[in-house]
Amino acid sequence: MQHASYKALHLLHLVLLATVLPAAAVSSGSNGTDTDLDALLAFKAQLSDPLGVLRGNWTPGTSFCHWLGVSCSQRRERVTALALPNTPLHGSISPYIGNLSFLYVLNLTNSNLTGTIPAELGWLHRLRVLALPWNSLSGYIPATVGNLTRLESLVLLENSLSGLIPDELKDLQNLRRLDLQTNHLSGKIPEVFNNTPYLSYLNLGNNSLWGTIPVGIGSLPMLQILSCKIITSLAPCLLTPSIIPSCKF
Ligand SMILES: *[C@@H]1O[C@H](CO)[C@@H](O)[C@H](O)[C@H]1NC(C)=O
Ligand SMILES: *[C@@H]1O[C@H](CO)[C@@H](O)[C@H](O)[C@H]1NC(C)=O
Ligand SMILES: *[C@@H]1O[C@H](CO)[C@@H](O)[C@H](O)[C@H]1NC(C)=O
Ligand SMILES: *[C@@H]1O[C@H](CO)[C@@H](O)[C@H](O)[C@H]1NC(C)=O
Ligand SMILES: *[C@@H]1O[C@H](CO)[C@@H](O)[C@H](O)[C@H]1NC(C)=O
Ligand SMILES: *[C@@H]1O[C@H](CO)[C@@H](O)[C@H](O)[C@H]1NC(C)=O
Repeated sequence: MQHASYKALHLLHLVLLATVLPAAAVSSGSNGTDTDLDALLAFKAQLSDPLGVLRGNWTPGTSFCHWLGVSCSQRRERVTALALPNTPLHGSISPYIGNLSFLYVLNLTNSNLTGTIPAELGWLHRLRVLALPWNSLSGYIPATVGNLTRLESLVLLENSLSGLIPDELKDLQNLRRLDLQTNHLSGKIPEVFNNTPYLSYLNLGNNSLWGTIPVGIGSLPMLQILSCKIITSLAPCLLTPSIIPSCKF
Protein backbone atom coordinates (compact mmCIF):
# COMPACT_ATOMS: atom_id res chain seq x y z
CA MET A 1 0.00 0.00 0.00
CA GLN A 2 2.66 2.45 1.09
CA HIS A 3 4.87 1.33 -1.81
CA ALA A 4 2.05 1.97 -4.29
CA SER A 5 1.40 5.52 -3.02
CA TYR A 6 5.14 6.24 -3.12
CA LYS A 7 5.10 5.18 -6.74
CA ALA A 8 2.13 7.41 -7.46
CA LEU A 9 3.87 10.33 -5.78
CA HIS A 10 6.98 9.67 -7.81
CA LEU A 11 4.89 9.64 -10.99
CA LEU A 12 3.24 12.92 -9.99
CA HIS A 13 6.68 14.38 -9.38
CA LEU A 14 7.79 13.36 -12.87
CA VAL A 15 4.67 14.84 -14.43
CA LEU A 16 5.19 18.09 -12.54
CA LEU A 17 8.83 18.20 -13.59
CA ALA A 18 7.90 17.65 -17.19
CA THR A 19 5.37 20.46 -17.18
CA VAL A 20 7.41 22.92 -15.14
CA LEU A 21 10.73 22.57 -16.96
CA PRO A 22 9.81 24.18 -20.28
CA ALA A 23 8.11 27.04 -18.47
CA ALA A 24 11.25 27.57 -16.38
CA ALA A 25 13.38 27.63 -19.52
CA VAL A 26 11.18 30.35 -20.99
CA SER A 27 11.07 32.45 -17.84
CA SER A 28 14.89 32.36 -17.45
CA GLY A 29 15.05 35.10 -20.04
CA SER A 30 15.88 34.61 -23.68
CA ASN A 31 19.40 33.93 -24.82
CA GLY A 32 20.72 33.16 -28.29
CA THR A 33 19.96 29.47 -27.91
CA ASP A 34 16.28 30.24 -27.41
CA THR A 35 16.31 32.52 -30.44
CA ASP A 36 17.83 29.75 -32.57
CA LEU A 37 15.25 27.24 -31.32
CA ASP A 38 12.40 29.64 -32.11
CA ALA A 39 13.85 30.22 -35.58
CA LEU A 40 14.11 26.50 -36.35
CA LEU A 41 10.58 25.85 -35.07
CA ALA A 42 9.23 28.73 -37.18
CA PHE A 43 11.09 27.33 -40.19
CA LYS A 44 9.57 23.88 -39.63
CA ALA A 45 6.10 25.33 -39.06
CA GLN A 46 6.02 26.83 -42.54
CA LEU A 47 6.81 23.57 -44.34
CA SER A 48 4.29 20.84 -45.06
CA ASP A 49 7.04 18.19 -44.83
CA PRO A 50 5.02 15.52 -46.71
CA LEU A 51 7.37 12.66 -45.82
CA GLY A 52 7.52 13.72 -42.16
CA VAL A 53 11.32 14.08 -42.27
CA LEU A 54 11.33 16.96 -39.79
CA ARG A 55 8.25 15.83 -37.89
CA GLY A 56 9.92 12.57 -36.90
CA ASN A 57 13.35 14.03 -36.17
CA TRP A 58 13.04 17.64 -35.01
CA THR A 59 11.44 16.69 -31.70
CA PRO A 60 11.47 18.63 -28.41
CA GLY A 61 13.13 15.76 -26.54
CA THR A 62 16.37 16.21 -28.45
CA SER A 63 18.66 19.24 -28.48
CA PHE A 64 18.30 21.02 -31.81
CA CYS A 65 22.03 20.58 -32.31
CA HIS A 66 21.27 16.90 -32.95
CA TRP A 67 18.43 17.53 -35.36
CA LEU A 68 18.76 16.38 -38.94
CA GLY A 69 20.54 18.97 -41.06
CA VAL A 70 21.47 21.22 -38.12
CA SER A 71 25.06 21.83 -37.04
CA CYS A 72 26.06 23.89 -34.00
CA SER A 73 29.15 25.62 -32.72
CA GLN A 74 30.92 23.57 -30.06
CA ARG A 75 31.34 26.33 -27.50
CA ARG A 76 27.87 27.81 -27.62
CA GLU A 77 24.76 25.96 -28.65
CA ARG A 78 24.27 28.15 -31.71
CA VAL A 79 23.28 26.97 -35.16
CA THR A 80 26.12 27.28 -37.67
CA ALA A 81 24.67 25.28 -40.57
CA LEU A 82 21.22 24.37 -41.80
CA ALA A 83 21.59 21.91 -44.65
CA LEU A 84 18.67 19.85 -45.88
CA PRO A 85 19.50 19.23 -49.52
CA ASN A 86 17.25 16.93 -51.53
CA THR A 87 14.70 16.85 -48.72
CA PRO A 88 11.12 17.41 -49.85
CA LEU A 89 10.13 20.19 -47.46
CA HIS A 90 7.41 21.88 -49.56
CA GLY A 91 6.68 25.40 -48.39
CA SER A 92 8.27 28.79 -48.01
CA ILE A 93 11.38 29.87 -46.11
CA SER A 94 10.49 31.48 -42.79
CA PRO A 95 11.88 35.00 -42.24
CA TYR A 96 12.84 33.77 -38.75
CA ILE A 97 15.85 32.08 -40.40
CA GLY A 98 17.32 35.60 -40.38
CA ASN A 99 17.64 35.27 -36.59
CA LEU A 100 20.16 32.41 -36.79
CA SER A 101 22.92 34.93 -36.29
CA PHE A 102 25.75 32.36 -36.13
CA LEU A 103 24.79 30.71 -39.41
CA TYR A 104 27.62 30.04 -41.88
CA VAL A 105 25.84 27.69 -44.27
CA LEU A 106 22.26 27.63 -45.52
CA ASN A 107 21.88 24.82 -48.05
CA LEU A 108 18.33 23.96 -49.09
CA THR A 109 19.13 22.54 -52.50
CA ASN A 110 16.29 20.78 -54.32
CA SER A 111 13.83 20.91 -51.42
CA ASN A 112 10.67 21.97 -53.22
CA LEU A 113 10.62 25.41 -51.68
CA THR A 114 8.16 28.03 -52.91
CA GLY A 115 7.53 31.69 -52.11
CA THR A 116 10.16 34.39 -51.97
CA ILE A 117 13.66 34.65 -50.52
CA PRO A 118 13.13 36.52 -47.23
CA ALA A 119 14.92 39.86 -47.03
CA GLU A 120 15.73 38.89 -43.43
CA LEU A 121 18.45 36.54 -44.73
CA GLY A 122 20.48 39.73 -45.10
CA TRP A 123 20.90 39.73 -41.31
CA LEU A 124 23.05 36.59 -41.44
CA HIS A 125 26.31 38.51 -41.46
CA ARG A 126 28.47 35.42 -40.92
CA LEU A 127 26.97 33.54 -43.87
CA ARG A 128 29.47 31.97 -46.31
CA VAL A 129 27.13 29.75 -48.34
CA LEU A 130 23.62 30.59 -49.51
CA ALA A 131 22.50 27.70 -51.68
CA LEU A 132 18.83 27.45 -52.68
CA PRO A 133 19.05 25.92 -56.18
CA TRP A 134 16.48 23.63 -57.83
CA ASN A 135 13.45 24.96 -56.01
CA SER A 136 10.45 27.03 -57.14
CA LEU A 137 11.37 30.28 -55.45
CA SER A 138 9.88 33.39 -57.05
CA GLY A 139 10.06 37.15 -56.59
CA TYR A 140 13.20 39.28 -56.48
CA ILE A 141 16.65 38.51 -55.17
CA PRO A 142 16.49 40.75 -52.07
CA ALA A 143 18.86 43.71 -52.08
CA THR A 144 19.78 42.77 -48.51
CA VAL A 145 22.01 39.95 -49.82
CA GLY A 146 24.47 42.81 -50.29
CA ASN A 147 24.83 42.80 -46.49
CA LEU A 148 26.30 39.30 -46.57
CA THR A 149 29.83 40.58 -47.01
CA ARG A 150 31.45 37.25 -46.09
CA LEU A 151 29.43 35.30 -48.64
CA GLU A 152 31.52 32.99 -50.84
CA SER A 153 28.78 31.07 -52.68
CA LEU A 154 25.50 32.50 -53.91
CA VAL A 155 23.80 29.63 -55.70
CA LEU A 156 20.20 30.21 -56.79
CA LEU A 157 20.01 28.41 -60.14
CA GLU A 158 16.84 26.70 -61.41
CA ASN A 159 14.21 28.78 -59.63
CA SER A 160 11.66 31.32 -60.90
CA LEU A 161 13.38 34.43 -59.59
CA SER A 162 12.56 37.60 -61.50
CA GLY A 163 13.50 41.27 -61.57
CA LEU A 164 16.96 42.73 -61.78
CA ILE A 165 20.23 41.35 -60.51
CA PRO A 166 20.68 43.67 -57.52
CA ASP A 167 23.45 46.28 -57.67
CA GLU A 168 24.10 45.45 -54.03
CA LEU A 169 26.00 42.31 -55.11
CA LYS A 170 28.94 44.66 -55.57
CA ASP A 171 29.44 44.53 -51.81
CA LEU A 172 30.14 40.78 -51.85
CA GLN A 173 33.90 41.09 -51.97
CA ASN A 174 34.52 37.48 -50.95
CA LEU A 175 32.31 35.91 -53.59
CA ARG A 176 33.80 32.86 -55.32
CA ARG A 177 30.76 31.33 -56.94
CA LEU A 178 27.73 33.13 -58.38
CA ASP A 179 25.21 30.90 -60.10
CA LEU A 180 21.88 32.45 -61.07
CA GLN A 181 21.24 30.45 -64.24
CA THR A 182 17.76 29.38 -65.34
CA ASN A 183 15.60 31.96 -63.64
CA HIS A 184 13.52 34.83 -65.08
CA LEU A 185 15.99 37.58 -64.24
CA SER A 186 15.81 40.55 -66.56
CA GLY A 187 17.53 43.83 -67.32
CA LYS A 188 21.20 44.54 -67.71
CA ILE A 189 24.00 42.78 -65.88
CA PRO A 190 25.04 45.34 -63.25
CA GLU A 191 28.65 46.53 -63.02
CA VAL A 192 29.31 44.63 -59.82
CA PHE A 193 32.41 42.72 -60.81
CA ASN A 194 35.08 45.34 -60.17
CA ASN A 195 34.88 44.43 -56.52
CA THR A 196 34.79 40.61 -56.54
CA PRO A 197 38.43 39.59 -57.07
CA TYR A 198 37.97 35.95 -55.97
CA LEU A 199 35.09 35.16 -58.32
CA SER A 200 35.99 31.96 -60.14
CA TYR A 201 32.60 30.66 -61.27
CA LEU A 202 29.95 32.87 -62.84
CA ASN A 203 26.82 31.60 -64.51
CA LEU A 204 23.98 33.96 -65.38
CA GLY A 205 22.79 31.92 -68.36
CA ASN A 206 19.22 31.17 -69.40
CA ASN A 207 17.70 34.36 -68.03
CA SER A 208 16.29 37.37 -69.89
CA LEU A 209 19.32 39.60 -69.57
CA TRP A 210 20.29 42.09 -72.23
CA GLY A 211 22.84 44.80 -72.91
CA THR A 212 26.58 44.48 -72.81
CA ILE A 213 28.86 42.28 -70.76
CA PRO A 214 30.20 44.44 -67.91
CA VAL A 215 33.84 45.29 -68.52
CA GLY A 216 34.70 44.13 -65.00
CA ILE A 217 33.95 40.51 -65.94
CA GLY A 218 36.77 40.53 -68.48
CA SER A 219 39.34 41.42 -65.85
CA LEU A 220 38.38 39.04 -63.05
CA PRO A 221 41.73 37.46 -62.15
CA MET A 222 40.41 34.13 -60.83
CA LEU A 223 37.59 33.54 -63.27
CA GLN A 224 37.68 29.99 -64.65
CA ILE A 225 34.14 29.32 -65.72
CA LEU A 226 31.71 31.73 -67.30
CA SER A 227 28.50 30.56 -68.85
CA CYS A 228 28.75 31.19 -72.56
CA LYS A 229 25.01 31.67 -72.86
CA ILE A 230 25.36 35.12 -71.36
CA ILE A 231 27.84 35.96 -74.07
CA THR A 232 25.86 34.64 -77.01
CA SER A 233 22.62 36.23 -75.86
CA LEU A 234 24.11 39.67 -75.35
CA ALA A 235 25.37 42.11 -77.92
CA PRO A 236 27.70 43.76 -78.55
CA CYS A 237 30.12 41.34 -77.04
CA LEU A 238 33.07 42.93 -75.29
CA LEU A 239 34.84 39.67 -74.60
CA THR A 240 36.78 37.33 -76.79
CA PRO A 241 37.11 33.61 -76.02
CA SER A 242 40.80 34.09 -75.30
CA ILE A 243 39.95 36.14 -72.21
CA ILE A 244 37.96 33.26 -70.75
CA PRO A 245 39.85 30.05 -71.52
CA SER A 246 37.12 27.64 -70.47
CA CYS A 247 34.49 29.32 -72.59
CA LYS A 248 33.22 27.16 -75.44
CA PHE A 249 31.09 28.69 -78.17
C1 LIG B 1 20.39 29.45 -22.77
O1 LIG B 1 19.19 29.00 -22.19
C2 LIG B 1 19.03 27.60 -22.20
C3 LIG B 1 17.70 27.29 -21.60
O2 LIG B 1 16.74 28.19 -21.99
C4 LIG B 1 20.16 26.94 -21.44
O3 LIG B 1 20.02 25.53 -21.51
C5 LIG B 1 21.48 27.33 -22.00
O4 LIG B 1 22.53 26.82 -21.22
C6 LIG B 1 21.60 28.84 -22.07
N1 LIG B 1 22.83 29.18 -22.76
C7 LIG B 1 23.63 30.17 -22.36
C8 LIG B 1 24.87 30.39 -23.18
O5 LIG B 1 23.36 30.88 -21.42
C1 LIG C 1 9.25 18.33 -55.88
O1 LIG C 1 7.93 18.33 -56.40
C2 LIG C 1 7.83 17.79 -57.70
C3 LIG C 1 6.39 17.96 -58.14
O2 LIG C 1 5.55 18.25 -57.09
C4 LIG C 1 8.31 16.36 -57.71
O3 LIG C 1 8.26 15.84 -59.01
C5 LIG C 1 9.73 16.28 -57.16
O4 LIG C 1 10.14 14.94 -57.06
C6 LIG C 1 9.81 16.92 -55.82
N1 LIG C 1 11.18 16.94 -55.34
C7 LIG C 1 11.51 16.60 -54.11
C8 LIG C 1 12.96 16.67 -53.73
O5 LIG C 1 10.67 16.23 -53.31
C1 LIG D 1 13.04 36.79 -35.23
O1 LIG D 1 12.52 37.02 -36.54
C2 LIG D 1 11.16 37.34 -36.61
C3 LIG D 1 10.77 37.52 -38.08
O2 LIG D 1 11.79 37.98 -38.89
C4 LIG D 1 10.84 38.51 -35.71
O3 LIG D 1 9.47 38.81 -35.76
C5 LIG D 1 11.31 38.22 -34.30
O4 LIG D 1 11.02 39.29 -33.46
C6 LIG D 1 12.78 37.92 -34.31
N1 LIG D 1 13.40 37.82 -32.97
C7 LIG D 1 13.40 36.76 -32.12
C8 LIG D 1 14.15 36.95 -30.86
O5 LIG D 1 12.84 35.71 -32.34
C1 LIG E 1 24.70 21.93 -50.92
O1 LIG E 1 24.60 20.57 -50.58
C2 LIG E 1 24.77 19.68 -51.66
C3 LIG E 1 24.49 18.27 -51.17
O2 LIG E 1 25.28 17.98 -50.06
C4 LIG E 1 26.18 19.82 -52.19
O3 LIG E 1 26.39 18.97 -53.29
C5 LIG E 1 26.39 21.26 -52.63
O4 LIG E 1 27.72 21.45 -53.04
C6 LIG E 1 26.07 22.24 -51.51
N1 LIG E 1 26.10 23.59 -52.05
C7 LIG E 1 27.04 24.48 -51.75
C8 LIG E 1 27.00 25.76 -52.50
O5 LIG E 1 27.90 24.27 -50.91
C1 LIG F 1 20.95 45.62 -45.42
O1 LIG F 1 20.72 45.99 -46.75
C2 LIG F 1 19.67 46.91 -46.95
C3 LIG F 1 19.46 47.06 -48.44
O2 LIG F 1 20.65 47.15 -49.14
C4 LIG F 1 20.01 48.20 -46.24
O3 LIG F 1 18.97 49.13 -46.41
C5 LIG F 1 20.19 47.91 -44.77
O4 LIG F 1 20.60 49.04 -44.10
C6 LIG F 1 21.20 46.82 -44.52
N1 LIG F 1 21.17 46.39 -43.12
C7 LIG F 1 22.25 46.12 -42.40
C8 LIG F 1 22.02 45.66 -41.01
O5 LIG F 1 23.36 46.21 -42.86
C1 LIG G 1 16.07 27.48 -69.57
O1 LIG G 1 15.00 27.92 -68.76
C2 LIG G 1 13.74 27.36 -69.08
C3 LIG G 1 12.70 27.94 -68.16
O2 LIG G 1 12.99 29.26 -67.79
C4 LIG G 1 13.79 25.85 -68.94
O3 LIG G 1 12.55 25.31 -69.33
C5 LIG G 1 14.91 25.28 -69.80
O4 LIG G 1 15.03 23.91 -69.54
C6 LIG G 1 16.21 25.96 -69.47
N1 LIG G 1 17.26 25.50 -70.37
C7 LIG G 1 18.43 25.04 -69.95
C8 LIG G 1 19.39 24.61 -71.01
O5 LIG G 1 18.73 25.00 -68.76
